[in-house]
Amino acid sequence: MGAWTLLIVAILLFAAIPPSSSDPSDEACLTQLSESLQDPTKSLQNWTKSTFANPCNGFTSYLQGATCNNGRIYKLSLTNLGLRGSISPFLANCTNLQALDLSSNFLTGPIPSELQSLVNLAVLNLSSNRLDGEIPPQLALCAYLNVIDLHDNLLSGPIPQQLGLLVRLSAFDVSNNRLSGPIPTSLGYRSGNLPRFNSSSFEANKDLYGYPLPPLKNKGLSILAIVGIGLGSGFASLVLSFTGVCIWLKFTERKMATEEGKISQLMPDY
Ligand SMILES: *[C@@H]1O[C@H](CO)[C@@H](O)[C@H](O)[C@H]1NC(C)=O
Ligand SMILES: *[C@@H]1O[C@H](CO)[C@@H](O)[C@H](O)[C@H]1NC(C)=O
Ligand SMILES: *[C@@H]1O[C@H](CO)[C@@H](O)[C@H](O)[C@H]1NC(C)=O
Ligand SMILES: *[C@@H]1O[C@H](CO)[C@@H](O)[C@H](O)[C@H]1NC(C)=O
Repeated sequence: MGAWTLLIVAILLFAAIPPSSSDPSDEACLTQLSESLQDPTKSLQNWTKSTFANPCNGFTSYLQGATCNNGRIYKLSLTNLGLRGSISPFLANCTNLQALDLSSNFLTGPIPSELQSLVNLAVLNLSSNRLDGEIPPQLALCAYLNVIDLHDNLLSGPIPQQLGLLVRLSAFDVSNNRLSGPIPTSLGYRSGNLPRFNSSSFEANKDLYGYPLPPLKNKGLSILAIVGIGLGSGFASLVLSFTGVCIWLKFTERKMATEEGKISQLMPDY
């Protein structure tokens, strides 16, 4: 009886220890990511091939910057580590990823459109890097996204209007890039009780325009200037025509006076 209880307790204890996982897609993701990143200051600890094969033990991570959930990579947060290189499209193999924060590094190249297959992604923070190219419209397929922070990069082209479909979006920042074109109304004017984004989300871009940015900022003339110029020129022409009329009146008066003189000279006095 006692032996059986002991055995059962032992089995239960053994079963309670979470298995050391080795997920092939997480391994592919981490291997490719570490190949595309450069780490000149050697700040990534444990980012070695042997750890990629086994980055998680249940909820424990052996990789600096990684968080595990049930044996899978769940968050990657590698901020301000002096990282260079580019963002591997194979990050999409980390299929359980919920948060990706690579902010404040020196990353170059595009934002891979492959990130669209990260269907659980809620946080994407790639701010303060040197990323270029366009914002992939495919990001709209990550339906759970509630943070998109891409400020302070070299991104160009338009803001994809598809991003307006992301109803959970509560933080959106693309300021300080080289974006151009109109701000999609689906992001500028958000309907119902969706969180709104003010001008600070869009400011300091090359040729971006539309609400909530101030009208015709830095380009052509502001409405006030147009109204001012209109009023000013109206007043100036009023003054000019008034002087013109005055001069004309004076002139005709004098002419009439001389004509009158001529006439009175011609006409005999009665
Ligand atoms: C990684 O993703 C690519 C493209 O999505 C896929 O072809 C490949 O099978 C994935 N690899 C693993 C190990 O899951
Ligand atoms: C590196 O791995 C060892 C064991 O594999 C672990 O004890 C250590 O905490 C890890 N370092 C980081 C930064 O996760
Ligand atoms: C993104 O990361 C930067 C720098 O790490 C941080 O300041 C910013 O608050 C983050 N953005 C959001 C929306 O959390
Ligand atoms: C814009 O909104 C943010 C919060 O989302 C706030 O901190 C900031 O002060 C606002 N800026 C303006 C100009 O209203």
